[in-house]
Amino acid sequence: MENFRKIIQHNREWAAAMKAEDPDYFEKRASRQEPHFLYIGCSDSRVPANVVTGTEPGELFVHRNIANVVLPSDLNVMSVLQYAVEVLDVKHVIVTGHYNCGGVKAAMGNQSYGLVDLWLQPIRNVVRWNKPELEQIEDEQARFDRVVELNVLEQLYHLSETPVIQNAWEKGKRPLLHGLVYDIHEGLLREIATGVDSQEAADALAQRRQSGVPAGPPPVMGRLTQPVLAGDALADAIAQRVMDRLNVTGGSAKR
Ligand code: CO
Repeated sequence: MENFRKIIQHNREWAAAMKAEDPDYFEKRASRQEPHFLYIGCSDSRVPANVVTGTEPGELFVHRNIANVVLPSDLNVMSVLQYAVEVLDVKHVIVTGHYNCGGVKAAMGNQSYGLVDLWLQPIRNVVRWNKPELEQIEDEQARFDRVVELNVLEQLYHLSETPVIQNAWEKGKRPLLHGLVYDIHEGLLREIATGVDSQEAADALAQRRQSGVPAGPPPVMGRLTQPVLAGDALADAIAQRVMDRLNVTGGSAKR
């Protein structure tokens, strides 16, 4: 309880100090936010988004989860992304991983951690797809570091494939996507990929993220080439697929 009280106490001191410096500090920010950046990072307590990027309240829209995973099936990150891009009109989306990431380490090992194993599955895939490259790295820490970097590239690519980013790029060259890795030993952000602003740039990224994999089709879902189906069109498409599998045509199905 004592530690918790400290948090409240520090908050009072901080608010007072900010007001002493600028009496309108909070009022100026109270009515609206106009952040230029969406930051997607790891929940790790050693990587505080505002602190390591030197940003003030109001400058960074933030989403954090274990090991900075970006999945289209995650309603949370997708909602944050949509709001940031379509409503707040952020200019940059930054995926930030960090060395010595516990989530990445867990995904590299065989130990089970319960529910979180499901969450880490995409990183297990990164490890699997890049096995040829990773097996060449003898030093354990260097291999760990490389998986952290590959994970950032992978999540950045996932980001590029989302309808939100695809739609935004169709209208212009924004937002720019960036991949960073935070070095917790040095306190420095390393640029892994910067200024991804088009499908071509994202495709180049895809090559890099599977550099150890022999040439061939990407192991993950490719870019959507078909329109997304919904409602009756989706029902028809599913029915058609079932019919195809049963090897009958729509008109001559035997009943
Ligand atoms: Co982490």
